[in-house]
Amino acid sequence: MSRNRVPPGSDEEPTAIPEQPSRRRFLQSAAAAATVGVAPHLHAQTQPADPSPTSPPASAEVRAPEPPRPVALNVNGRAYTLQLEPRVTLLDALREYAGLMGTKKGCDRGQCGACTVMVEGRRINSCLTLAVMHDGESITTVEGLASNGVLSPVQRAFIEHDAFQCGYCTPGQLCSATALLNEFNSGTASTVTADVRTRPSQLSDDEIRERMSGNICRCGAYANIVAAVRAAHGGNAGNA
Ligand code: FES
Ligand code: FES
Repeated sequence: MSRNRVPPGSDEEPTAIPEQPSRRRFLQSAAAAATVGVAPHLHAQTQPADPSPTSPPASAEVRAPEPPRPVALNVNGRAYTLQLEPRVTLLDALREYAGLMGTKKGCDRGQCGACTVMVEGRRINSCLTLAVMHDGESITTVEGLASNGVLSPVQRAFIEHDAFQCGYCTPGQLCSATALLNEFNSGTASTVTADVRTRPSQLSDDEIRERMSGNICRCGAYANIVAAVRAAHGGNAGNA
């Protein structure tokens, strides 16, 4: 409310006139109303979950970890007996228990191929398999490719063709390329082999790219990797 103006010296009582809402007051009122309207919604969204303790479902079973057990692996011609929990991957068994750090952990989920090793001659992503599943089997890692200090033909080809930059993917690439050549030489077809009923006659660059497609190189050294595999194949490498 505000008072009406009265001339000085007049006996007239000032009369009250209704106050017009100012623009500022109107905006303040609108904001307050909006806050009141929105607050319950915000509260509902930010309200923490009911803190009262809930008991686990009757069907939930808490299992104690399995104790370590001996796992025998022949790695690069050397016998290891490792005490491993069943949940230990072959990759971790090699790196953390056998101390063979050449095999690399890239993604730990089967996407990059950095962990490729050969199990009984077949390449495998060691991050995707449990060590206990290979009890009694022979493993070849990058440390086992050279023989008596002499690099394998695939290793030499990688060096000669500058097929790496940072080198992190290289152990996996070398194991994969070694197994690839063995697979090709034994007549195994790939998805780009023109006629899978016949032995592929030559290891084309398309064949190499397809067969190495599980090994990712973040540095992008693919052109040189293909050249190295091609050269190693030309020398009939891969019999590591
Ligand atoms: S670490 Fe095994 S596939 Fe990437
Ligand atoms: S050389 Fe660096 S990731 Fe392949």
